[in-house]
Amino acid sequence: MKTSELRRRYLEFFRNRGHTVIPSVSLIPDNDPTTLFTSSGMQPLVPYLLGQVHPEGKRLVNIQKSFRAQDIEEVGDNRHTTFFEMLGNWSLGDYFKREQLPWVFEFLTKEVGLDPKRLYVSVFEGQGSIGKDTEAIELWKEIYKTVGMDAKEGEQIFAYPAKKNWWSRSGEPENMPPGEPGGPDSELFFEFPNVQHDPAFGEKCHVNCDCGRFVEIGNSVFMQYKKEADGSLSELSQKNVDFGGGLERLVAATLDESDVFKIDIFQPIVASLESASGKKYGADVESTRCMRIICDHGRASTMLMADGALPSNKAQGYVVRRLIRRAIRFGRLLGLQTGFMTEIARSVLDSYAEAYPVAPEKREAILAAMSQEETKFNNMLGKGLKEIEKIPTLTGALAFKLFETYGFPWEMSEEIARERGQQVDRTEFEAEFKKHQELSRTAGKGMFKGGLADHGEAVVKLHTATHLLHQALRSVLGVHVQQKGSNITGERLRFDFSHSQKVSPDEIKKVEEIVNSQIERDLPISFKLTSYEDAIKEGALAFFGERYPEKVKVYEIGDFSKEICGGPHAEKTSLLGKFAVTREEASSAGVRRIYATLS
Ligand code: SER
Repeated sequence: MKTSELRRRYLEFFRNRGHTVIPSVSLIPDNDPTTLFTSSGMQPLVPYLLGQVHPEGKRLVNIQKSFRAQDIEEVGDNRHTTFFEMLGNWSLGDYFKREQLPWVFEFLTKEVGLDPKRLYVSVFEGQGSIGKDTEAIELWKEIYKTVGMDAKEGEQIFAYPAKKNWWSRSGEPENMPPGEPGGPDSELFFEFPNVQHDPAFGEKCHVNCDCGRFVEIGNSVFMQYKKEADGSLSELSQKNVDFGGGLERLVAATLDESDVFKIDIFQPIVASLESASGKKYGADVESTRCMRIICDHGRASTMLMADGALPSNKAQGYVVRRLIRRAIRFGRLLGLQTGFMTEIARSVLDSYAEAYPVAPEKREAILAAMSQEETKFNNMLGKGLKEIEKIPTLTGALAFKLFETYGFPWEMSEEIARERGQQVDRTEFEAEFKKHQELSRTAGKGMFKGGLADHGEAVVKLHTATHLLHQALRSVLGVHVQQKGSNITGERLRFDFSHSQKVSPDEIKKVEEIVNSQIERDLPISFKLTSYEDAIKEGALAFFGERYPEKVKVYEIGDFSKEICGGPHAEKTSLLGKFAVTREEASSAGVRRIYATLS
């Protein structure tokens, strides 16, 4: 089946079961300081899983663009990618296991046509105060019976501890921060019997084995618990279902193809790589691995750029840079010199033109950024070569330094040294590399952990202050001011907006006075549900970088501010305290940034 066909059928299947289709949000999350990327469908829905009212109701279906930086080292096998599309269906306190598990099974076996005998499921074995999910086991047995199968635990259905069958953004219950939602889950695996088990992954193969014979294609999370400050788990006010399915893997399964890189969406990308390198995908293990890495990194960096993250040395831009440079390094192993990443970006944009259209000017900007980054990195590699010429004997540690500073690949150091009749110490290089990896892993932990988009009191108040600030800036500076981004922690708010010059101290003072006077007026805060069109017609502000669903929530702060927003917010402005701007600076061309606090 083609990717576009599966997307269409999935949305249709759940639309026919009372779900409303909601659009994918950006890969760069707004207003969530705890994480750099949207890495799952549930991330933008956290407030609603915790009990906020969703404007589109209690049954939702979506296909969410997702990016997982932590999977970068796994790319190269038949199924891991950093960017992927996640099929989601959501019950926000509506249906539960009894309805959802049969639907997923029906979708996979009837709609998509997968052989039920090759579908295996896992459930939660129980841990601590939460018992084994016997309800899910019984339901699965009943479900398999509908296709004439007598599915048994230990044969088709397997129970695993929390490490495998508990889902929250931070993993097992003990890793969840207070306030984080999570719950037991039931994963679905598709078997590719032609893939021989590789004993490198363990003596016996099993559904959770990493050899590639069993591929996880979906996961139903029964999101019904919340972590409390005392470390216990409490029941959420509503029982939710969060289903996530891997679109690319599912398309591969419909083709009885264990390699996701062989599905239609990758074809133009692989073809552009084959024509640049003159090598055939699949011809040998090493170049196939290189091609997969380049395909993945080329696709991920292009999709991230399309959502506004251009290569840089900071935050998301740094990850984009790393992906591009890593792809170029693997390109060199394939014998590719320069210019190929821009071609790949072009193929990616073509492949996704229908699902995630990009305006022509933006397309040109992405291609230009890719080409610039390629040139920059190639120049650096050139400098690395010159440095090497100056070094009389290349040690493993020096080779690593060249790798770290110029991205100079090990293989190239080795080859140069060989030309001089020397040998570089690989063990020394690898020891340095390992040290470096440990360091970046520790640094990365804080950056990529899926922590809670904190909905504590301080964050909620600062969020309300952001709306007041947005409106006050428009009153003082003019209505050209539009929100470009925001980021809130328990200590301060950060707000980016369109404005081409520095905001003067006098203007800042006026903005502070306006916000504080609205706080003193003790305005009530309320929301209503309406269509996006009507909201805009009646003057509600929106974060124009986003695609909104048809129905939206509009928050009103008395008669002062009206804005499309998911919430949550304080009940009335007098709860906010005193507002003060602490810093004003440039963010990017034509965008200013303000930091402010409440005390
Ligand atoms: N939240 C779960 C996941 O990301 C299911 O959607 O796997």
